Amino acid sequence: METYNIALIGFGGVNRALAELIATKNSLWERDLGFRLNIVAVSDLYLGSVISPNGLDAKTLVEANFAKGGFGGLSGGSAEADNATVINTAPADIVVEATFTNPKDGEPAVSHCRWALKSGKHVVTTNKGPVALAAQELKALAKANRAHFEYEGSVMSGTPVIRMAKNCFAGAEMKGFEGILNGTSNFVLGRMESGLDFASAVAEAQALGYAEADPTADVEGFDVRLKVVILANELLGANLQPEKVSCQGISGISRFDIEAAATANSRWKLIGSAVRNADGTVTGSVSPRQLPLEHPLAGVNGATNAVSLNTELLGSVTVTGPGAGRTETAYALLSDIVAIHRAQSGNLAKEAA
Ligand code: HSE
Repeated sequence: METYNIALIGFGGVNRALAELIATKNSLWERDLGFRLNIVAVSDLYLGSVISPNGLDAKTLVEANFAKGGFGGLSGGSAEADNATVINTAPADIVVEATFTNPKDGEPAVSHCRWALKSGKHVVTTNKGPVALAAQELKALAKANRAHFEYEGSVMSGTPVIRMAKNCFAGAEMKGFEGILNGTSNFVLGRMESGLDFASAVAEAQALGYAEADPTADVEGFDVRLKVVILANELLGANLQPEKVSCQGISGISRFDIEAAATANSRWKLIGSAVRNADGTVTGSVSPRQLPLEHPLAGVNGATNAVSLNTELLGSVTVTGPGAGRTETAYALLSDIVAIHRAQSGNLAKEAA
């Protein structure tokens, strides 16, 4: 049985949900997955940072109602968030990066990933910034340091898309995809269909933990654009940058548009897509589309996401599942750790043979 020491960077909804899972499920994981997780450090802009080589009690971390700088009161703690020290010096095997997504340059999360990988620590992240904007560099860094860089939760939270497509669609010849890739905007469109106004629907999505810190990214399509870049680069072998993906969100959709669509037996959905062109280039786009009710994506409701993968040998395959939410996204981190554990176990078996 393996114990992985982990350092949590960011202690907002997602990493807090992971700590909650650790508090309740470590014994189950030990039995079913062959490892348990031990939190040896946490750093958070609001709460401060703490390093505890023997491990912090996950239940206490989750249940204590820390005030601003509250980690300063813990043994090994400081009221300041010193991410660099935590990442470079905590005795962690895995750094769990779940800070906010910066869609411009991915910082400070890109630096967090760099520091971790350079010091030989694996990185698992739900942060779209480093994956959309610096994946090539970070993958190379991981390889050079015999570490893993895993990011399943950057698209569709814990619903398996990236790893599943890479593992199970190898040879199927991916030609493109189209999907509902933002839970908040899909939730908002649904609530508007029920008669709610735009602002109240966005506020509900925030309260439920779906929306980004700044929901502009959700409703203006910027969040979907990053996800289109990630999927296009991962599944279609593209090298897209966000500014190359045309982008229109849902803020211009009125109650009148919603009602007109219903009268025409259709629904508005915010669709992110990419297609491989005849010359091998890949074009991505984000825009609201009025889909007929019989379209496979028209019936996807609430914060649920779905993506139809268009392949040469298998035709179109649609994957649907949660696209946002704290526990759902924390599960993505667990699935990344499972992937690391399995790869490590395989490597160890090969080395021993
Ligand atoms: N704000 C995002 C959404 C969360 O609503 O889908 C997951 O990236």
